[in-house]
Amino acid sequence: MASLVSHPDEVKVVSKRFGQGATKLDRYLELDGYKAVQKALTMEPDAIINEVKNSSLRGRGGAGFSTGMKWSFVPRQSAKPKYVLCNGDESEPGTCKDRLIFEHDPHAVIEGVMIAALAVGSQTGYIYIRGEYRYLSIIMQKALADAYARGFLGRNIFGSGRDLDIYWHGGAGAYEVGEESALMESLEGKRGIPRIRPPFPAVVGLWGGPTVINNAETLASVPHIILGGAEWYANLGTPKNGGTRLFCMSGTLAKPGVYELPMGYNLKKLIYDVSGGIPNGRELKAVVPGGSSTPVLLPHEIDIPMDFDSLAKAGSMLGSGGVVVLDDTTCIVKFALRTMKFYRHESCGWCIPCREGTDWLEKTLTRFHAGGGLKKDIDNIQYLSENMLGRTFCPLGDAAAMPTIAFVKKFRKEFEDHLEGKPCPFEKEGASVEPLPVLAHSGN
Ligand SMILES: Cc1cc2nc3c(=O)[nH]c(=O)nc-3n(C[C@H](O)[C@H](O)[C@H](O)COP(=O)(O)O)c2cc1C
Ligand code: SF4
Repeated sequence: MASLVSHPDEVKVVSKRFGQGATKLDRYLELDGYKAVQKALTMEPDAIINEVKNSSLRGRGGAGFSTGMKWSFVPRQSAKPKYVLCNGDESEPGTCKDRLIFEHDPHAVIEGVMIAALAVGSQTGYIYIRGEYRYLSIIMQKALADAYARGFLGRNIFGSGRDLDIYWHGGAGAYEVGEESALMESLEGKRGIPRIRPPFPAVVGLWGGPTVINNAETLASVPHIILGGAEWYANLGTPKNGGTRLFCMSGTLAKPGVYELPMGYNLKKLIYDVSGGIPNGRELKAVVPGGSSTPVLLPHEIDIPMDFDSLAKAGSMLGSGGVVVLDDTTCIVKFALRTMKFYRHESCGWCIPCREGTDWLEKTLTRFHAGGGLKKDIDNIQYLSENMLGRTFCPLGDAAAMPTIAFVKKFRKEFEDHLEGKPCPFEKEGASVEPLPVLAHSGN
């Protein structure tokens, strides 16, 4: 179980019940639990959607799409049942926030799914939790059972005459099933590979029915919006970036942890003030601002607000909120290799640019880091990554390519130093990675 950290600048909304015993239903009720859904039961679906739209809540799963807007795409009338899915697959390296919500406030997620279901006219929800989070699945299953036992779920919820079922579903350990359409395939009992879009899930989703899928943090934010009001929530953040965000601070930091801060909080402050700065007298070398798929920032680029638009302007992304800080002892080539190992392993193999591209990149980076690099490899790594961009069925290919392009662009000199350094200038005892033979395609 993760221990909780705290800082005076924190604005606790999603995390306000952390450490308060809110996994127990009675305690959750004492802490205003299930009040928002009872309020939502008195509202028209469009009024719920408008409230969420006006709050400027944007998806916390990575893409930052407007949640209210997403809900508004679901058709009012549908011959097929509609569904609400909570994406709790959380597997992006550097991201460890949804687990805290499941651990400390599972009913908030249930309540968020309920409100989304009322907004789009669905009677069925699923909470899909990453397979490795087995201990959290137990917490969630208990919370669901308690909500059923109290009549909050099932038939005639809160005596409203409406029926609503929510089920837990566990993943089997693939990062790819966090991608929304692959998650639906997985829920349907099939291999977790993505679907071609259009059609989009809001129209044709789970079992062909209109489907809303949102990240666990997104959904856990919704009850607070319904109770506190759109204006209050929007004003916590910056324009078009409402509310707060759980920032997962990891890497070489004095005080790593998950901190909840307003959207738009300054990244430099987040590193040096909130997270205690770089320990052991070392210097900052680079920051991965939003999970492993987001392009790296250099020290002179970190004086920026942490919101979706500012990060995009800086050539990166806010992504899933996983901030990974690297000090000057980090070998960027090795870091790029470690990142690529993950994406190669997690590629579902369905499309060639991703399946072959991640494999080539991993092999080339391995050889390069181990001292067998050729000068032309540097351009090849760049060329290969650029040719994966936008050419894959799902964004996992982009997620592998984007950080790699940034590593080469911003740390080219360090790649060149590896040619001199043989094998790695950062490893006194020699490279920790086995050298591989030069691949025939590396000269292309
Ligand atoms: C490879 C891949 C993995 C993803 N993993 C997750 C995940 O673990 N959790 C998540 O919420 N979104 C994940 N996403 C994003 C989802 O596809 C989707 O955009 C998100 O669940 C929408 O919720 P939101 O609008 O609340 O952010 C992933 C996307 C890709 C391409
Ligand atoms: S991009 Fe990768 S993960 Fe996505 S469909 Fe293609 S092979 Fe699978």
